[in-house]
Amino acid sequence: MALKNDILSLMEQNRTKIFSGRELSEHFDVSRNAVWKAVNTLKEEGHTIESVGRKGYRFAKDSNVLSEEGVRVSLIESLHDIRLFVAKEVGSTNEEAKHMAAQYPNEPLVFISDKQYSGRGRMGRSFYSPAETGLYMSCVFYPKPREPFSKAVIYTAMAAVAVVRAINSVCTVRPKIKWINDLYIDERKVAGILTEAETDLETGETHRLTVGIGINITTADFPLEIRGKAASLGVNVVRNRLAANIINEFYTLAAEKPDDLMEEYRRDCFIIGRDVTFSDGLQLFKGKVAGVGDNCELILDVDIEKLTFSHGEILVF
Ligand code: BTN
Repeated sequence: MALKNDILSLMEQNRTKIFSGRELSEHFDVSRNAVWKAVNTLKEEGHTIESVGRKGYRFAKDSNVLSEEGVRVSLIESLHDIRLFVAKEVGSTNEEAKHMAAQYPNEPLVFISDKQYSGRGRMGRSFYSPAETGLYMSCVFYPKPREPFSKAVIYTAMAAVAVVRAINSVCTVRPKIKWINDLYIDERKVAGILTEAETDLETGETHRLTVGIGINITTADFPLEIRGKAASLGVNVVRNRLAANIINEFYTLAAEKPDDLMEEYRRDCFIIGRDVTFSDGLQLFKGKVAGVGDNCELILDVDIEKLTFSHGEILVF
């Protein structure tokens, strides 16, 4: 690993500590000049590293550059070696993740980007993904045992639960879930999740899942068409740590498949009991949300019958 990456990794682990040039040169067994050059390269890459008097270097509180090293230092041990890609700008992290997955078949991997110029949302919509103010990432899974598509939907619930937990672990905010996997704060959407599956046509089993997560952290100035509906967390959290916590939560849930997953989902889901207008893509239904089933299906009370949907969208709530 290059010296600058080693220094970055060490400073990310100790974000408030002041590191003297001597300490760094001894730690990595390199010259003071090499340390100085490496720190300058990190600054050129956008990291805000303060020189604290003659004492040394420290990460500025607001330094919030996404990096592989910065994410990796907060990963749990079982995920230390997960393939992880961090980019400055891509079209869509879901597309990049699938592209990488083709190169590293059957390996879970994560693709993160600071910005997306064609971020995709559900139902063919776009997802506004400007630089520096959000987190856009995609996680690839190979469900085992291979399951029919209807069962793989549970990954969508896992993603929502993982993201709620992770956001809540880095700030005091706890977003609420709008079925199926939008996250809301005060009736405005702060995060969206797009799950794409590759299914074996012969067996009907899901081979690979790519779960894309987009979070507005401090995003403002939303495009006109979503202004009034979208919002951001409004707290400047350390994005590397948030990304790592999402990965930790999500891959742990996928490995353990806890029995109480849907209980937690339902607890955080704010539309249960509400009168809603729902579209299954073909037809509109007006009814009351009676609950969310164990396979993450929406249960709607419409007149005297209960209808169950595994896909679609709540339009009015
Ligand atoms: C939605 O709200 O409809 C889903 C939005 C999903 C956005 C994320 S951002 C990372 C990943 N890459 C994409 O192109 N989309 C998802």
